[in-house]
Amino acid sequence: MYTLTNVTKTYRTSRTVTALDNVSLEIPDGQFLAVRGNTGGGKSTLLQMLGGLDRPTSGTVAVDGKDITTASESALTRFRATDVGIVFQGFNLVSTLTAAQNVEAGLVPLGVKAGERRERAIDALRDVGLSGREDHLPSELSGGQQQRVAIARALVKQPRIILADEPTGNLDEAMRDEVMALLEKEWERLGFTLVMVTHDSSVAGRAERQIRITSGHLA
Ligand SMILES: Nc1ncnc2c1ncn2[C@@H]1O[C@H](COP(=O)(O)OP(=O)(O)OP(=O)(O)O)[C@@H](O)[C@H]1O
Ligand SMILES: [Mg+2]
Repeated sequence: MYTLTNVTKTYRTSRTVTALDNVSLEIPDGQFLAVRGNTGGGKSTLLQMLGGLDRPTSGTVAVDGKDITTASESALTRFRATDVGIVFQGFNLVSTLTAAQNVEAGLVPLGVKAGERRERAIDALRDVGLSGREDHLPSELSGGQQQRVAIARALVKQPRIILADEPTGNLDEAMRDEVMALLEKEWERLGFTLVMVTHDSSVAGRAERQIRITSGHLA
């Protein structure tokens, strides 16, 4: 699915930081890949490259043979909207929207009409075990439940790729296990490519493959 060739990303602020240094990597379709490494090593930067959220300074990122680093802004926006679901450590739910409205937000960029959005959001919340919680605000849900809403928001558009950046990092052990079990179950059921950044060796151990990124280098 993914072929990264000599991907380098530098950030220029007061000084130049090389977040990724000449990284080449293949990720087969449907793989569950865990990404580990030191703090500041470049893991989140790698996910941004994979999600088309930012462009590398040099090198190419190909998805099914098509280079997304030279794609137009509109093609990249379409790629992000249809093909990529993202789950963050901090859940990133909109606090003033209900669970169902947060999930529906994943369908707005696709132009899905309101009635169908609501139906699909309810189905997605059912799939993550949150039936009956559709009209709850994030503040009325536990951390694990909030992350389930975020997973439903990522999955509702049936993307081919899920990128998860320490999705269990803010959860206690019991909720971490619950959220991991859910992500794995959905990965097995739906067959998307799953790239997950994690500091947790027990979480990483459940992946099909692990890579380590240290100071921008792939080990
Ligand atoms: N927008 C930015 N501007 C400047 N520097 C950045 C930016 N984003 C990341 N960096 C730098 O790039 C390097 C890699 O950052 P990145 O967030 O990818 O690390 P990480 O492996 O995800 O770390 P962590 O485990 O702490 O989340 C760090 O040195 C960071 O300070
Ligand atoms: Mg990070």
